Amino acid sequence: MIKEIITHSEKETFDLAEKLGAGATRGAVFALYGELGTGKTIIAKGIAKGLGITDDITSPTFLMEEIYEAQIPLYHFDLYRMNSPDELDELDFEESWDGEGVSVIEWAERAESRLPANAIKIKLDWISETERRILIEYPDN
Ligand SMILES: Nc1ncnc2c1ncn2[C@@H]1O[C@H](COP(=O)(O)OP(=O)(O)O)[C@@H](O)[C@H]1O
Ligand SMILES: [Mg+2]
Repeated sequence: MIKEIITHSEKETFDLAEKLGAGATRGAVFALYGELGTGKTIIAKGIAKGLGITDDITSPTFLMEEIYEAQIPLYHFDLYRMNSPDELDELDFEESWDGEGVSVIEWAERAESRLPANAIKIKLDWISETERRILIEYPDN
């Protein structure tokens, strides 16, 4: 199933993501695609809020993974600075979705071959300064 949504503000994107987070269960994986500045981190922040996480979510700068402890923890990956998929071996990448938490992966295109079958793919496109096209692809089963 694919859903297409156009958002007209950061808040609309955040609110959409908050709902996704609120509905997420342990082991859910959100794979985020899109160029710099399209709103991937806003989506991560919204998902975190939906999970009840009150910490400020920032983009992990040097680390590629940040863990936020909560009833359902959040594993936030940002693969922007990854040079080779081998670097995923140093992270608990695949272990994350077998765990208790919800995973959010920015720059998921860099780990495409290693994403799980249950990944929900969220593709963001820039339309204008304030508008984004957001495609949400749910796995077939
Ligand atoms: N409709 C929108 N949805 C999401 N972000 C938007 C929207 N309109 C403008 N923005 C702005 O785009 C930027 C997105 O930044 P960010 O989430 O850090 O991008 P990314 O993580 O994809 O590089 C923010 O400055 C945000 O305010
Ligand atoms: Mg980001």
